[in-house]
Amino acid sequence: MNYNIALLRGDGIGPEIVDSAVRVLEEVGKKYGHEFVFTPYLIGGAALDACGIPLPEETVRGCLASDSVLLGAVGGPKWDTLPGNIRPEKALLGIRAAMELFTNLRPAKLYGALKGDCPLRSDIVENGFDIMIVRELTGGIYFGERGMREGKYGEEAYDTECYSRMEIERIAKVAFETARKRNKKLTSIDKANVLESSRLWRKVVHEMAEQYPDVECVDMLVDNAAMQLVRNPAQFDVIVTSNMFGDILSDEASQITGSIGMLPSASLGNTKRGLYEPIHGSAPDIAGQGKANPIATILSAAMMLLYSFDLAEESECIVNAVDKVLNAGFRTADIAHGGDSLSTTEITDKIIENL
Ligand code: IPM
Ligand code: MG
Repeated sequence: MNYNIALLRGDGIGPEIVDSAVRVLEEVGKKYGHEFVFTPYLIGGAALDACGIPLPEETVRGCLASDSVLLGAVGGPKWDTLPGNIRPEKALLGIRAAMELFTNLRPAKLYGALKGDCPLRSDIVENGFDIMIVRELTGGIYFGERGMREGKYGEEAYDTECYSRMEIERIAKVAFETARKRNKKLTSIDKANVLESSRLWRKVVHEMAEQYPDVECVDMLVDNAAMQLVRNPAQFDVIVTSNMFGDILSDEASQITGSIGMLPSASLGNTKRGLYEPIHGSAPDIAGQGKANPIATILSAAMMLLYSFDLAEESECIVNAVDKVLNAGFRTADIAHGGDSLSTTEITDKIIENL
């Protein structure tokens, strides 16, 4: 089979980690007889530098015409002082919206080999944890009305959190169905003791729970959830939450797996075409030094094979290769604790050898 993949390398370490994932995909293609055709497009700061806007029309068209999209990361100090509407990050929100990717799957599991990297007490993570965060991705405060105005105390800025029943229903459906395929426990996280949008969220989730009697569905307030994640992460199976809460909680969840450099993500809509990216950022401080951990991006490519192309065996082959490399003790600097570490290319070579 032939698959057309749009590559959005982006900024900072983006190009290095995407190139690692491309090498792994090419090798998997050889092994299983698939052809992956890669077409690069500009996004973020790289696009700003080349054409003055963070998300060129051509990039959007290219992504919509592809079978799937692999993205590195966007942003960096060079563009940090630009107005909000042309910041590199705006391109990320823009491409998610243009592709109608309302679901963001962010798995956070503790690798056996990385147990020692988890900052939590060992008795807390004795039995590991395996959480799937289902983050709503195209609604809420990141997309709501915002602006500046004169208020009671003079100049003020505002952003609005707004969720429609339809948006809650479609993300809750994904979450319930994901839970059904896993351990059948869904935690819906909101702030219903304060926010009207959370009260609608909770009401809709409860209504939908009736269609999934086999899934245990519990509500949790977001502040409590932030605490429970470090108190007892194993209590979670699938989490469903809003765009902003999911953004914050997924960073927290990633840190307790040992390194944010390990966590992949899949952004999906109603078609098979998805956007796959590591959950970490562009790490401008280590860009171009060959120090970046490419594993999150390589695992994002594995998620692409599974979710967009239905290539379960090929996907597992990548996941297993990463496991083997970690179990053999190979590390990048972020998970080496000052010990021996491999460069981005070297760890990629190891993963390829183990496919
Ligand atoms: C993420 C990032 C983005 C987000 C930013 C860079 C816009 O933090 O993917 O988690 O908030 O979605
Ligand atoms: Mg984030």
